[in-house]
Amino acid sequence: RTDMIVNGSSSPAVVEQSHESIKHRDKTVPPQWIHNQTLSLTIRKHILKFLDAEKDISVLKGTLKPGDIIHYVFDRDSTMNISQNLYALLPRTSPLKGKHYRTCAIVGNSGILLNSGCGKEIDTHSFVIRCNLAPVQEYTHDVGTKTDLVTMNPSVIQRAFEDLVNDTWREKLLQRLHSLNGSILWIPAFMAKGGKERVEWVNELILKHHINVRTAYPSLRLLHAVRGYWLTNKVYIKRPTTGLLMYTLATRFCNRIYLYGFWPFPQGPDQNPVKYHYYDSLKYGYMSQASPHTMPLEFKALKVLHHQGALKLTVGPCD
Ligand code: CDP
Repeated sequence: RTDMIVNGSSSPAVVEQSHESIKHRDKTVPPQWIHNQTLSLTIRKHILKFLDAEKDISVLKGTLKPGDIIHYVFDRDSTMNISQNLYALLPRTSPLKGKHYRTCAIVGNSGILLNSGCGKEIDTHSFVIRCNLAPVQEYTHDVGTKTDLVTMNPSVIQRAFEDLVNDTWREKLLQRLHSLNGSILWIPAFMAKGGKERVEWVNELILKHHINVRTAYPSLRLLHAVRGYWLTNKVYIKRPTTGLLMYTLATRFCNRIYLYGFWPFPQGPDQNPVKYHYYDSLKYGYMSQASPHTMPLEFKALKVLHHQGALKLTVGPCD
């Protein structure tokens, strides 16, 4: 197994290291990853000062009514009305209420997952989070199938489902939604005005076809709160990526967090080319300077946390 590969750059500060693993460490074998429970709990506590995943994971029915006006988080001058459909799909209680999981997997979408054989391992985790409705069926060997929560940025409807221009694409999206089979579908509906219609289309499909998903729509304060937490920790991100958002939320309800598919670089640890996404042909240029994301910066922060034992990054093949 290749756990986090460091390319010899930083010195790992693995804590709670047993004498056994120190004894067996040599220069060619990366030190064994050991979970640092104390640090994980400290991080959870710090993050709780900025946000509470149990609450911020979704706006609840009781707090809004149809017709209410909302200002988009990133387009403050634009507003939306809470539609009947959106209201109907708001949860009554948090989908994470009182939840605690022993281990969670967060599956990012990097091409580093291809030929990783990590599917089996990912599926062993108690709670599996995926991003942006990424396909699993054709990639089970590398990404697994278990999905407890999946995110859906409205832009995915355009990027991966051709804005539902015809019945074929509509059917494709329907199938993907049906396959979610009771998991949580997390839709950032209040972030940018560009997503307005796409969110409505999806809401309509879910209701019309009685799709078995538990919808969640993150709170208006979540993004700023997450950014605030990381800025306070000197990680100067402009806008957190979905992956970082998920890690930040997961600290609340997961004891051990395992990250797969996080590798925002066109070359792998072995210098071989790595696709931007494991499932499409999007290029790294997509993440241009204009992009508000600062993925490599985020990655650096996650790498530090890996070495400290707060999370485990896997960027190579699984056993
Ligand atoms: O919504 P966003 O564009 O941030 O995400 P995505 O492209 O669907 O990928 C999901 C997550 O995987 C990202 O938010 C990143 O955290 C991670 N990722 C990565 O680390 N390296 C890549 N090459 C692509 C995605």
